[in-house]
Amino acid sequence: MTTAPRSARTVAGNWKMFKTQAEVKSFFASLGSELPPQVRTVIAAPYTLLASCLSEAAAHKIPVQIFAQNCHDKTEGAFTGEISAAMLKDIGVKGTLVGHSERRQLFGETNETAAARALSALQAGLDVIFCVGETLPERESGKTISVLRAQCQALINGLTSSPQLAPRLEIAYEPVWAIGTGLTAVPAQISEAHLAIREFFAKFGPPKVLYGGSVKPENFQEILSTPGVDGGLVGGASLKPDSFKMLIKLST
Ligand code: PGA
Repeated sequence: MTTAPRSARTVAGNWKMFKTQAEVKSFFASLGSELPPQVRTVIAAPYTLLASCLSEAAAHKIPVQIFAQNCHDKTEGAFTGEISAAMLKDIGVKGTLVGHSERRQLFGETNETAAARALSALQAGLDVIFCVGETLPERESGKTISVLRAQCQALINGLTSSPQLAPRLEIAYEPVWAIGTGLTAVPAQISEAHLAIREFFAKFGPPKVLYGGSVKPENFQEILSTPGVDGGLVGGASLKPDSFKMLIKLST
């Protein structure tokens, strides 16, 4: 199984709280092994499906990297209901999402807890896709770039003492108002945010920045051609093999 170079575009599917074991089997059976090797394809699956995703991808020789959707910042301990980065690494998971807006909005994730989780995952040897994005009121009051900076600052502080971890970090810019709504940011908005994020992390070598929020085959070409965009983080359109495959193909 060939894997894409780190500089390749990334197409990451975020399955959120969807799918059963049987659905994983049929998804991988129809995904096919002919994915273009020059695209870094990721699936971020629920914890219960990680082992089946790993074994189905291996069985069908599909070059896809399996990610979790979150991890705790401690290695082990009395944290009922949590999973550590070390545990993910132990089963062969490649990386994890951290700080998704649903974690921030629905489960009390803060800029500090998200940074701690991301740093712990990087220290454990996992790759991280760290998610940031403004709400509609924040955008409408002109606060987009300062919100993004605040969301990144604790992570930047942590990386400053461990800059060797930075090459395994990607950032996903996902305007909260565009997630699952059918609304997408326009190219000028996407570009402004992506270039600002690259600048925040410039001292480590700028990370790849993915766009997320209602990405689908119909709008992905335009998004990918926007300056500063290195790929996509995709919810709804990653659940069906046909649309996911189409997004991967558009990224070549
Ligand atoms: P969506 O979700 O593509 O369904 O808008 C994106 C995400 O939440 O990562």
